[in-house]
Amino acid sequence: MMKRLLITGAAGGLGAMCRERLTHLAETIVVSDRDGLGSAAAHEEIICCDLGDKAAVEVMVEGCDGIVHLGGQPIEHTWEVVKNANIDGIYNLYEAARKSSVTPRILFASSNHAIGFYEQTVRLDAKSPTKPDGLYGVSKVFGEAMASMYYDKFGIETACVRIGACFPEPKNHRMLSMWMSYDDFVRLIERVFIVPRLGCPIVYGTSANSGVWWDNHEVAYLGWQPQDNAEVFRAKLDAELPAPTADEPNSKYQGGMFTADGIHED
Ligand SMILES: NC(=O)c1ccc[n+]([C@@H]2O[C@H](COP(=O)([O-])OP(=O)(O)OC[C@H]3O[C@@H](n4cnc5c(N)ncnc54)[C@H](O)[C@@H]3O)[C@@H](O)[C@H]2O)c1
Repeated sequence: MMKRLLITGAAGGLGAMCRERLTHLAETIVVSDRDGLGSAAAHEEIICCDLGDKAAVEVMVEGCDGIVHLGGQPIEHTWEVVKNANIDGIYNLYEAARKSSVTPRILFASSNHAIGFYEQTVRLDAKSPTKPDGLYGVSKVFGEAMASMYYDKFGIETACVRIGACFPEPKNHRMLSMWMSYDDFVRLIERVFIVPRLGCPIVYGTSANSGVWWDNHEVAYLGWQPQDNAEVFRAKLDAELPAPTADEPNSKYQGGMFTADGIHED
C-alpha cells in the first residue's frame, strides 16, 4: 500500500471515478484539480492547483509515492490552452517528481489521439511510431517523451496509457474497438502500482474488445487482463445510431473525427 497517491484531474470524469475507486491503494488519497472538489473525506487531502503553476505543482507532488495523472486538456483546443495544461503542466509535474523527497511512480493518461492518424485496418503495438491527429494528440506524444526521458535519466517510472474511450458505455461504433470499461481501467491502475518493476511502457488502454486494433503483448509482464468487451453494446448502438459509412473519419481513422478537425486558432 502506498502512503500518498495523488490523483490529478480529480474533478473530471475519470478523476471522479478514480477518487471513488482507488481508496484501497494508499493511506492518503491526494485529490487535485483546478475546479472544485467538494469536501475531503477522512482519507483524502484536497489541493486545488492549476497544472501550469510550477510552484503549486511542486507542493502538490511533494511526498507522493504514486500519481495517477488525469488532469489536463482532454480534447482539441487552442494552442495556449493545450500548452498550459498538457505541455507546461507535464513539465511541471515531472520536474516536481524529480525534486520530490519521494520518487513517485506515475500513470500518465495519454490518448489514442497520439496515434490517431493510423487507419483502423492497421494493428499497432508499443513500438509503432506515433501519428498524432491534432495539437492535443501532439501534446500527448510530448507527455510520453517526457516520461521516457525522466525514466532514462532519473529512474522515474511511468505507465503511458493510450486511453481509447473510457466511459461507462461506448458512445459510437468506433468506440466498439477501443472502449475501456471503468472496471478494466481500475484493474490496470492496480497492476501499474503493484508490479515490482514498471519501467516506462506504452500501454493501450482498451478492454478485451472483439474488434480491438491494438496489441499489448509488450506489457504482458504487468499481469493486466482486461475482462470486458464492448460488443455487448453493439445492438444498442445499432438501434440508436445510423450505420456508419465507410468513408467517414469515424470509420477510417483510429482517431475518428479528430483527424478532420482544423487548428483552433487562439
Ligand atoms: N475519457 C477518455 O475516454 C479519455 C480518452 C483518452 C485520454 N483521456 C485522458 O484522460 C484524462 C482524463 O480524461 P477525462 O475524460 O476524465 O477528462 P475531463 O475533462 O473530465 O477531466 C480533466 C480534468 O482536468 C482538469 N484540468 C484541465 N486543465 C487543467 C489545468 N490546467 N490545471 C488543473 N486541472 C486541469 C479539468 O478541470 C478536469 O477536471 C485526460 O488527460 C484525457 O486527455 C481520456
